[in-house]
Amino acid sequence: MADTEIRKGLAGVVADTTAVSKVNAETNSLLYRGYPVQELAEKCSAEEVALLLWTGELPSEEELEAFRTLERENRALTPELKRVIDELPTTCHPMDVCRTAASVIGAQHPLAEDNSPEAELRKAQELFAVMPAVVCYDQRRRHGQELVEPREDLDYAQNFLWMAFGEEAAPEVVDAFRVSIILYAEHSFNASTFTARVITSTLSDLHSAVTGAIGALKGPLHGGANEAVMHTFEELGIRKEETAEEAEKRAKEWMDRALAEKKKVMGFGHRVYKHGDSRVPTMQEALFRMLDHYDRQEILGLYNGLAKSMDEAKSIKPNLDYPAGPTYWLMGFDIPTFTPIFVCARITGWTAHIMEQRANNSLIRPLSDYSGPDERHLS
Ligand code: COA
Repeated sequence: MADTEIRKGLAGVVADTTAVSKVNAETNSLLYRGYPVQELAEKCSAEEVALLLWTGELPSEEELEAFRTLERENRALTPELKRVIDELPTTCHPMDVCRTAASVIGAQHPLAEDNSPEAELRKAQELFAVMPAVVCYDQRRRHGQELVEPREDLDYAQNFLWMAFGEEAAPEVVDAFRVSIILYAEHSFNASTFTARVITSTLSDLHSAVTGAIGALKGPLHGGANEAVMHTFEELGIRKEETAEEAEKRAKEWMDRALAEKKKVMGFGHRVYKHGDSRVPTMQEALFRMLDHYDRQEILGLYNGLAKSMDEAKSIKPNLDYPAGPTYWLMGFDIPTFTPIFVCARITGWTAHIMEQRANNSLIRPLSDYSGPDERHLS
């Protein structure tokens, strides 16, 4: 295969068509089913965007109401699922808990082997409904706290924060959280979505595909970056008494050193966007609102210092994980919970792609160029 071009990491390879979302790196735009994600983040609930991704259209009032009812009725952990989570060590990564939960939910699902469009939509919606309880309970148990049961009078974003902290969040906080869920929901053929599509292409089931996708999302080059961003901030040291200017100066020095040592700094760069991530301005505005809400301007200094220094030195721009990490931290989530929140949001995108893959399937099976020893024989 000497004349075959190998695209390491499949970079630049167009693997299939999709109608779920369109990423245009040249114009920095991201469309979900044709709608700019910024408009959706401004005007829609997480529930409306979920339905848009699954069905291709924004829901009517009746459709939204029916889904709201289904989602609220399926939020609670079953006793069996709670028992499985309780069996896992509190020291394991919360992404391992999510991955295990997705697998257990699949194993117990009455429609487990039913891959019809109706069954898949139902399974996707139920998974979207219950995963926040998995994530919130896991965070709480790691801190020795009791499970907080979901509340049917709250919407998805309000209830998520309720189950995490056991108190109702301020409307500004709910809003920033809602924005993050919408921005994280979908992003074409990223590594975890492609994983889900590969698994689906073998005609495996939806829960297997989501379980594999969670494994792919765990890595720091993908979803794990939002956690890594906050570790950078911690390494720098978050000093409440510091002014934004002092923090910015320190952050710039830290970044200059990191780049001189050829470190990869998480939260920057993107395989597709080379001039900036389309989702960052909207998430950044949400972060800035949270910095005002919690009165933490020293974090703004760190945030700006790192970004400016990276831009000046390498022209590499922040990705969505960069503003999302500190936003979740300010809300009170512990760092290992950040990527699991991403899981909850991305369930919609993954499952929309699973359904799309199945509707027009071809087994995904690329070739490889052998680079091992020449043929040899046992003596
Ligand atoms: N910090 C420092 N340098 C970076 C960088 C970062 N976050 N991201 C890219 N670069 C540099 C690379 O070192 C490389 O420099 P070189 O040409 O001098 O060797 C160049 O930019 C190209 O990077 P590369 O890793 O080949 O680009 P890619 O398209 O394969 O990678 C990512 C994209 C996302 C994997 C990469 O930017 C990265 O690792 N980012 C950090 C992880 C992260 O935030 N992931 C979340 C993505 S949404």
